[in-house]
Amino acid sequence: MGIVLRDSTFKQLRDFVYEKTGIYIPDSKKYLVESRLTKRVLERNLNTFEEYLYLIQSNTDFNELLKLYDAITTNETSFFREPRQFDVLVKHIVPSIIQKQKTVKIWSAACSTGEEPYTIRMLLIENMFDTVEVIASDISESALESARKGVYGSYSVRNVPEFYLRKYFKNSGQSYELDEVVKKGVRFVNVNLVDEKRMRFMHDMDVIFCRNVLIYFGEGAKQKALSLLYGCLKPGGFLFIGSSESLHNVTRAFKPVIIDGVIVYQKE
Ligand SMILES: C[S@@+](CC[C@H](N)C(=O)[O-])C[C@H]1O[C@@H](n2cnc3c(N)ncnc32)[C@H](O)[C@@H]1O
Repeated sequence: MGIVLRDSTFKQLRDFVYEKTGIYIPDSKKYLVESRLTKRVLERNLNTFEEYLYLIQSNTDFNELLKLYDAITTNETSFFREPRQFDVLVKHIVPSIIQKQKTVKIWSAACSTGEEPYTIRMLLIENMFDTVEVIASDISESALESARKGVYGSYSVRNVPEFYLRKYFKNSGQSYELDEVVKKGVRFVNVNLVDEKRMRFMHDMDVIFCRNVLIYFGEGAKQKALSLLYGCLKPGGFLFIGSSESLHNVTRAFKPVIIDGVIVYQKE
């Protein structure tokens, strides 16, 4: 028989995850936690979820916390996702910043397995913006590990235009390996969006992409992350969120601006 996750233990686990990551796990996802964390319980040679909870709460094993984050995050992403936002970035935002300053800093703030920052990097190369720095981060160490490898399956590259696929990927059978010129242009780091101390290192950004992550957060955590992201931007800097997300009723700190029909949020 499998290990059973009691409702009361699930709630304690949920509170713990929320406090550490901002991610709110609804009751309907209890089965997911149960199935994903059973592996952790067994790998740690434990017998119950209660023992596992005790282990992570005891705050002595940071590696186990990273494994927990890997297990509870949803890393769904793809290259050229929501492409109109990237058009706005390279046609309007980067050119306007470059008129005022030499270098530009773009941060992909929940980059998952790297498709988002690598898409940005390819577009910057194609548009000959060679003074733009791309930093990418995530809370999931295993997602970052595969991002650094830069090898993708055919599903991930399904939206990559043929021109980019030929120019920037080496195809061997089922896998597509990104060219070194793209890989070396993105720096990957582990950043938890609700960790004030860590977020302090991410300052003076001109543009932040924080797409399709706040949807997993509870309301308080969403506000906290947005206020920290605000602090990471330079005055006049831009924030992109997912096109199905909204800051309405969450924060008034950013000014929504519409560029070519795309909503971007600006720090005034
Ligand atoms: C659905 S993916 C979105 C990837 C990409 N931004 C996109 O739109 O395709 C969400 C990512 O957010 C990350 N994430 C979740 N909570 C986080 C947190 N507290 N800090 C940083 N990243 C987090 C997950 O690990 C996951 O890789």
